[in-house]
Amino acid sequence: MRLIIVVATSTNGLITDGAEPNPSSWTSQEDQDFYQKIKAKHNLFLMGSGTYKATHKLLREDLLRVVLTRNPAKYANQNITDKIVFETLSPSEFVEKYHKTYNQALILGGSHVYTEFLESGLITDIYITIEPIVFKSGIPFLLDNKRISDYQFSLAESKKLNTTGTILYHYVTKNIQENTALG
Ligand SMILES: NC(=O)c1ccc[n+]([C@@H]2O[C@H](COP(=O)([O-])OP(=O)(O)OC[C@H]3O[C@@H](n4cnc5c(N)ncnc54)[C@H](OP(=O)(O)O)[C@@H]3O)[C@@H](O)[C@H]2O)c1
Repeated sequence: MRLIIVVATSTNGLITDGAEPNPSSWTSQEDQDFYQKIKAKHNLFLMGSGTYKATHKLLREDLLRVVLTRNPAKYANQNITDKIVFETLSPSEFVEKYHKTYNQALILGGSHVYTEFLESGLITDIYITIEPIVFKSGIPFLLDNKRISDYQFSLAESKKLNTTGTILYHYVTKNIQENTALG
């Protein structure tokens, strides 16, 4: 199963701009176009409850969104079968549960979820957009000062998305065969 991180950061590695939780307030139009395009190609999304609260939006009909929380009962009234579920799962439990039905999942953040899944060694791809802006405060992409270079990834492609300096990087795990072994 491919587990694909998608993230946008400032030049100094933050995924939120201070008090503003939703990244669509500062990401470029070109990154937002890329984000819509990659989401349209997938029908299983995973996010933490922090991201769910910050970016809550209407659902596509053909999509399952898994929201991680240690307290699923708190969200019982927002559960919609086959569309949005609130679960407590480790990265390996997530793969175990969904790999037979889905070949791939988008991992949509935030910091806690990105870090936990990268630490698990199960992530196969990272799409990271770096926007040419610097934030004074905000949430970092990864916790504990971790960087992509702390994990086993190779840069597969980088692309300028516009003339103002937005760059999209695609990293692929060096352990692709092991990580996709579950099929
Ligand atoms: N720039 C970007 O590309 C981007 C992308 C995504 C998110 N963001 C931003 O990042 C912020 C949220 O990031 P965050 O790190 O604070 O929160 P988060 O990672 O979205 O969510 C963390 C929460 O997820 C739950 N969780 C995580 N792992 C779990 C597991 N294995 N089992 C059960 N529950 C688990 C816990 O929820 P409970 O507390 O409910 O137990 C935890 O408090 C938002 O402002 C969002 O807009 C930015």
